[in-house]
Amino acid sequence: MNIDAKIVHRSIVGKGIAHDSAARHVAGEANYIDDMPELPGTLHAAFVLSPVAHGKLNGFDASEALAMDGVAGVWAAKDVPGHNEVGPILNGETLFAEDIVDHEGRVIAVVAAQDFETAYRAAKKVKLDIEKLEPVLDIEEAHRRKSYVLPPQEVIEGDVDKALASAPHVFSGKLHMGGQDHFYLETHIAYAIPGENGEMLVHSSTQHPTEVQHHVAGILGLHANAVECQVRRMGGGFGGKESQPTIIAGAAALVAAKTGKPCKMRLKRRDDMIATGKRHDYVANWKVGVDGRGRILGLDVEYLARAGNLPDLTGPVITRTLTHTDNSYFIPNARFIGHACKTNTVSNTAFRGFGGPQGIITIETVIDTIARELRLDPNAVRAVNYYGDETGDMTPYGQKVEDNRLVEVTDAVLASAEWQYRRAEIDAHNATNPVIRRGLAMMPIKFGISFNLTSLNQAGALVHVYLDGSIFLNHGGTEMGQGLFVKVAQVVAEVFQVELDMVRISSTATGKVPNTSATAASTGSDLNGMAAFKAATAIKARMTKVAAEHFDVEEEVIVYREGRVHADNHSISFGELAKMAWAKRVQLSEAGHYATPKIHWDGKTMKGRPFFYFSYGAAVAEVAVDTLTGETRCLRADILQDVGSPLNPAIDLGQIEGAFVQGMGWVTCEELWWDKAGKLRTVGPSTYKIPGSRDVPPQFNVRILDNVPNREETVFRSKAIGEPPLMLGISVWLAIRDAIASIGGGVPQLDSPATPEAVLRSVQDAKGHANDA
Ligand code: MTE
Ligand code: HPA
Ligand code: MOS
Repeated sequence: MNIDAKIVHRSIVGKGIAHDSAARHVAGEANYIDDMPELPGTLHAAFVLSPVAHGKLNGFDASEALAMDGVAGVWAAKDVPGHNEVGPILNGETLFAEDIVDHEGRVIAVVAAQDFETAYRAAKKVKLDIEKLEPVLDIEEAHRRKSYVLPPQEVIEGDVDKALASAPHVFSGKLHMGGQDHFYLETHIAYAIPGENGEMLVHSSTQHPTEVQHHVAGILGLHANAVECQVRRMGGGFGGKESQPTIIAGAAALVAAKTGKPCKMRLKRRDDMIATGKRHDYVANWKVGVDGRGRILGLDVEYLARAGNLPDLTGPVITRTLTHTDNSYFIPNARFIGHACKTNTVSNTAFRGFGGPQGIITIETVIDTIARELRLDPNAVRAVNYYGDETGDMTPYGQKVEDNRLVEVTDAVLASAEWQYRRAEIDAHNATNPVIRRGLAMMPIKFGISFNLTSLNQAGALVHVYLDGSIFLNHGGTEMGQGLFVKVAQVVAEVFQVELDMVRISSTATGKVPNTSATAASTGSDLNGMAAFKAATAIKARMTKVAAEHFDVEEEVIVYREGRVHADNHSISFGELAKMAWAKRVQLSEAGHYATPKIHWDGKTMKGRPFFYFSYGAAVAEVAVDTLTGETRCLRADILQDVGSPLNPAIDLGQIEGAFVQGMGWVTCEELWWDKAGKLRTVGPSTYKIPGSRDVPPQFNVRILDNVPNREETVFRSKAIGEPPLMLGISVWLAIRDAIASIGGGVPQLDSPATPEAVLRSVQDAKGHANDA
C-alpha cells in the first residue's frame, strides 16, 4: 500500500477542520453516557469502598442497606459467577476484594438501588468488619522492605561504573516527583443493558472497549461473543480510562446480570479519585559523570515508582520511563533501573506520557544540575549532549535515532522566543528585584511513538459505502476529545474525495471492529487512520474498476474529485457510481487491518526498536516567582512541535496547548496528599488544584514545525500528537528552578510539583546558600 499514492489534490487531510462534535460540545448536545435516555427499570449502582488502607476483610453486614426503600441488592466477590478479575495484563487483580483490603478506596461490594442517591446512601450503610493491618505508604519504605509488585527492569548500556570512576566530574541527586489525577470532566461511568439469552450490552466510558468486553464476559462467565461494548465518546480519558473502566463496567454488568435490569454506575468525584488509579509518583536517585563541557559520560538512575496495591500497567509504564530517560541526549554508558514499589495506595495506571514524563524530568534535572555545577549555559550543555554526528545516534535501549530534528527544533524555538534578548532582560530584572524573581528555561523532547508492547500496535476499521454515496465509518479507536474521529473521517473523505459530512462517524463498538487495542500511546490516528485508509482504498479500487468499464477507459484515467468521478470530460456522481457498482454485484464494504511495521522489543534484554518513529518538540517558558509567598506564574511559553504532515493542524494545536497546560499542572499545582493513615485528602476540585483558564500563559505562542513529512510511512506522513507536548510543560518547572537559582547561585533543591510550599522551602534553601557565599 502506498500512502503517497496519487490523490489529485489534497482537499481535506491537512486542513484545520473543527472537531466533529465541537458545536455540540458547546451547545450541550453531545451525548455522554449519563445523557442517554434511561430504559424503564434502570438501577443505579454505588460502590462500598474500604475506608482503611490495609486490613483483613472478615466480612460485612448489608442488612441495614438492604432494608432501605428502593435498594435492589448488594453483591461482592462471592457473587461473581465467572472470574473476579479486571487486570489489564496479569491475572490476580480482582474487581472485588476477597480477604484483604489493600488501599483506601478498594472496592468491596456494589449496591444497586432505584436511584443514584439511594444507592450512595445505602452503600454507606453497609457495615464492614475489617481488622486493621499496618500499611506501607511510602515508596522508599516499600523499597527498603523489598515490597514490589513486579521484578525490577533494567536498561543497561556500556559500563557505567567505569565511566563514573574515570569521569572528570561526578554529580548526584535525588528527585521526588508527584503523581497526578486525571481529573477528566466526566468521571467513570458505565451503563449495562441485559439482552436475551445471556447477552449484555455495555456502554462504557473507556479508551479500551475490547478490554471491557473481555472482562465483563469473564466476570459473568460468558464468552466474549455474548458481550458488546460501545462508546460514542468520553468526557476525557487521559489514560485514566485505559484499564480502569473494567472496574465500573464489571460491577454494572454484574448488577444487570443478577437483576435482569439495566444498571448505570457513575462515580462521584470523590469515589473516582480514591477508587481508581493515577499517574505514578516516583523517586529518582541519580549519579552522572561528565567532562568539562558537560558532556555525559555515564548516567546511573534508580527509579522507585509507586505501583500501589497491584501491577495494573506499571510494568510498561516503567519501561517507558527507562526508554525516555535519555530524552534527547546520547548517553554512552547507562544503567537505568526501575522498581515497581508495592504500597497500600490505589494502583496507579496510565496517564498521558505513560512514564515518559518521569524519565524526562529526571534527565532534565540532571542536565540543569550539570550546567549549574559547571557554571555553563544549560542550553549549551543540552546541545553538546544531543544525539547527532558528534555524539552518537544509538539509544541505550538499542534503537537508532534516524529522524533527528533536535537542533532544528531547538534553534527555531530559541529564535522565535527571542531567547538572548529575554535572557539578558530577565537577568537585569533579577539583579534589582529581590522579591519577584523571574526565570527562563528551554527544553527539548523526543518521544517514542508506538505501544512499547509490540503486539498492541494493530488496528481495524470498517467502511461501508451506501447506494446514495454516503459513507459509514467505524474503527477501533475511541474519542475522548482528542479529535481522533474527525481525523480518521478526513482520511476516508480524502480517499474518496467527498465532502467530510458524507462520512458518518459512529460509536466504537466491539461488534463492528473486534480485538482492538486501547486508544493510547498517542497512536490512535496512526493505527486507526491507516486501517481506515486501507479499507477505503480497497473499496475505491473496486469502484474504479466499475467506473473504467462504464466510461470505457483505462483505470488510470479515472479521477475522484469533489464528490464526482471523472473520466476526461465525462463524470458521474460518487453516489451514481456506488449504485452502478451495486448493480454489478461489487462489494461496497471492507474491513481494514493495520499492523505497525519495523518494530520489535525484547523485554528480557530491554533492547530493540520499540518505536516506529520519534516526535520532537521544544519549549521556552518564562515564569515569575514570588519569593515571599512561593506563588509562581508562567508568563509566556513558546512551543514548536513536530507533527509530521498534520492530518488536522487545528486539532493538533489544541492538543499541544492542552497537553502543555496539563504537564505544567503536574509540575506546579497538582498535589496528591495522603494522610498518615493512607487516606487521600485531595479528593475534589477544592483540595486538588488543576490549572484553570487563568493559569494558561498570557503569552502562549504555539507553532507546528512546517513541511516535515514523517520519514516513516504513516497515514499521510503525519505524526502522533496526543502525549508528547505534555512533557514540554516541564519547561515551566525548569524556569522556576532558574528563578530560584538567581537567588543563591547554587543548584536549587526543588521537587515536583513546585507548589508554593515547595518553592518557599527551595527559596529558603537558596537564601541560605547566598548567605554562606
Ligand atoms: N485529549 C483530550 N481532549 N482528552 C483526552 O482524554 N488523552 C490523551 C491525548 N489527548 C486525551 C487527549 C492521551 S493520554 C492519549 S494516549 C491520546 O490523546 C490518545 O488519543 P490519540 O492516540 O488519538 O492521540
Ligand atoms: N502507552 C500506553 N499504554 C500502553 C503502552 C504505552 O506505551 N504500552 C502498553 N500499554
Ligand atoms: Mo494515553 S496515557 O497512552 O492513554
